[in-house]
Amino acid sequence: MEIEKIRKEALAELEKAANAASIEKLQVKYLGRKGEISLLLRTLKDLSVEERRHTGPKLQSLKNELEGLFSNRLSVNKEVSREKSVDLTAPGKKISRGHLHPLTLVDADIRKIFLSMNFSVVEGPEVETEYYNFDALNVPEFHPAREMWDTFWLKRDPAQKNEEKLLLRTHTSPVQIRYMEKNEPPFQIIAPGRTFRYEATDASHEINFYQLEGLMVGKSVSLANFKFVVEEFFKKFFAGQKIEFRYRPSYFPFVEPGVEVIIKLNDKWLEVMGAGMVHSMVFEYAGYNPRDWQGFAFGVGIDRLAMIKYKIPDIRMFYSGDLRFIKQF
Ligand code: PHE
Repeated sequence: MEIEKIRKEALAELEKAANAASIEKLQVKYLGRKGEISLLLRTLKDLSVEERRHTGPKLQSLKNELEGLFSNRLSVNKEVSREKSVDLTAPGKKISRGHLHPLTLVDADIRKIFLSMNFSVVEGPEVETEYYNFDALNVPEFHPAREMWDTFWLKRDPAQKNEEKLLLRTHTSPVQIRYMEKNEPPFQIIAPGRTFRYEATDASHEINFYQLEGLMVGKSVSLANFKFVVEEFFKKFFAGQKIEFRYRPSYFPFVEPGVEVIIKLNDKWLEVMGAGMVHSMVFEYAGYNPRDWQGFAFGVGIDRLAMIKYKIPDIRMFYSGDLRFIKQF
């Protein structure tokens, strides 16, 4: 009789319990060490064998039933309270976005400007032959000018004895020859790409960096045309900044005359580009008659332009893989 009463009471109370804490309280009240059921179980020993046989199993089954009910209600209740704890008014988590590398940004800028002047973009291989990187550019073996480019030579495979010596291109100028061999002038191209030099690194030198080659060939392409194109380019690239230009005689074996372009930005003169009129020997190597054609070529460091544009003090930052650097762009 008492057992049935306790059961009803427990179920009614459990029904009313609104949260995990009150369910736990009931659990203690009925099933705890000093709970009602435990106390009754302890009195079993005072009963007669007959009564014990009757009451024992009943008590035990009530205990089992309540244990099941309590733990069920508790787990459901915890689910619910977890749902309730989602704060729908909390601000969202910021998703971190990827960034384009500054060299990628500058490369894209440069292409856009030259495309707007009707230049096409071409590419050449990073592993070059000695012929394209040097000889065809009028830099024969033992020519002192070879020292202008510290070169990574590739090991020759002894099985390929007759093959030409290979190297990592020291500049993008070999693309001039490759393009001229396969195309008829007039044309105007740019050739952006990765270049390599066997040098000690410091804030302005890296063993690999990026260059942009330019080449325009036609019946009467002149240095005046070059000046127009290059000034147009720099004005657009440094849009909004005051810029002045100077041209200084310079030497590269594949141009004659050779010039160096110097620009003034923020009151500072900066060397930014090597250039000149394509040397007649280069035309001959490419299979053109130098009497029929003339053109200009230029080479500029993409890293250097990016450093100037974004005020980056050390070229090595581009290749550090440091996200704190990349995330600023
Ligand atoms: N290739 C030269 C260099 O890397 C730059 C250059 C290109 C100069 C074209 C003149 C004409 O130093």
